[in-house]
Amino acid sequence: MSPSDEIPLRWTTRVGPTSRVSDATVRKGWDDVAGWWVERYTEKGDINREWVIDPALLAIVGDVRGQRILDAGCGNGYLSRILARQGARVVGVDLSPRLLAIAKAYEAQDPLGIRFRQSDLAKLSTIESGAFDLIISNVVLQDVRRLDAALRELHRVLRSDGRLIFSITHPAFDIPPAHWVREPPDSDRAEERPFIAVDRYFDRVALYWGPSGQPELVGFHRPLRDFTEGLRQAGFVIVRLEEPRPLPEAIRRRYRQFADQLRIPNFLMIEARKA
Ligand SMILES: C[S@@+](CC[C@H](N)C(=O)[O-])C[C@H]1O[C@@H](n2cnc3c(N)ncnc32)[C@H](O)[C@@H]1O
Repeated sequence: MSPSDEIPLRWTTRVGPTSRVSDATVRKGWDDVAGWWVERYTEKGDINREWVIDPALLAIVGDVRGQRILDAGCGNGYLSRILARQGARVVGVDLSPRLLAIAKAYEAQDPLGIRFRQSDLAKLSTIESGAFDLIISNVVLQDVRRLDAALRELHRVLRSDGRLIFSITHPAFDIPPAHWVREPPDSDRAEERPFIAVDRYFDRVALYWGPSGQPELVGFHRPLRDFTEGLRQAGFVIVRLEEPRPLPEAIRRRYRQFADQLRIPNFLMIEARKA
């Protein structure tokens, strides 16, 4: 982590109707922010991935040697590379050509045998059924427009008894006006945030978000049940649910950035098995 990580970004969020959002809008959002997005990444991902999400995710994943893994929504491919270095045979799929170009450039520079393809998770028509032992999808499914179709496709391309392990932004706390109340209102100190204000949890809406000064991204807020029911209907059985917290070292080194996540989870993780 660099000293500038201590300066909190100002994020803006707003909601809109889901009917106005197409896959092209989602793709354009990620293409437009690709340069800025990957600047925040090291080979271990951004700070949330490195210090909160991935330690929990990779502990659930376990030994990947020789496994055929789909990194579903691979972005710049940093996780594909971590998995490939551990001996997995990885395919990365994403909607955004710009993020995939970055992933392919890393692969060209330092080949690990990863194949990257552009595809919508809701339509993996170039991938044969049962092609993967394990599917990992890191902070992606909240951004996928056709969630149920994507879960059905992930089920199809997974081998029988294979696992789907995914993280998402926590649906209980991702919907505006959900925000930390600050007292005084201009405080950036974790101690001066008494609680999160949450409302309209059951709405299904498009979420437009991003740091001020950058193009807007669009994802979706859905109640948690949409994920569990989508999994059940696709043919998955949930075997584990985690709400990861920052590693103690993250708290020691960057208390201001991570303290909130000791109180309220930003992310939720599910391990499901193909029944
Ligand atoms: C928050 S980023 C996470 C990327 C990567 N997993 C990571 O952790 O860095 C969400 C990703 O989902 C991708 N995405 C959104 N909708 C998608 C869809 N329908 N099919 C495939 N990828 C999609 C975006 O292009 C973006 O790369």
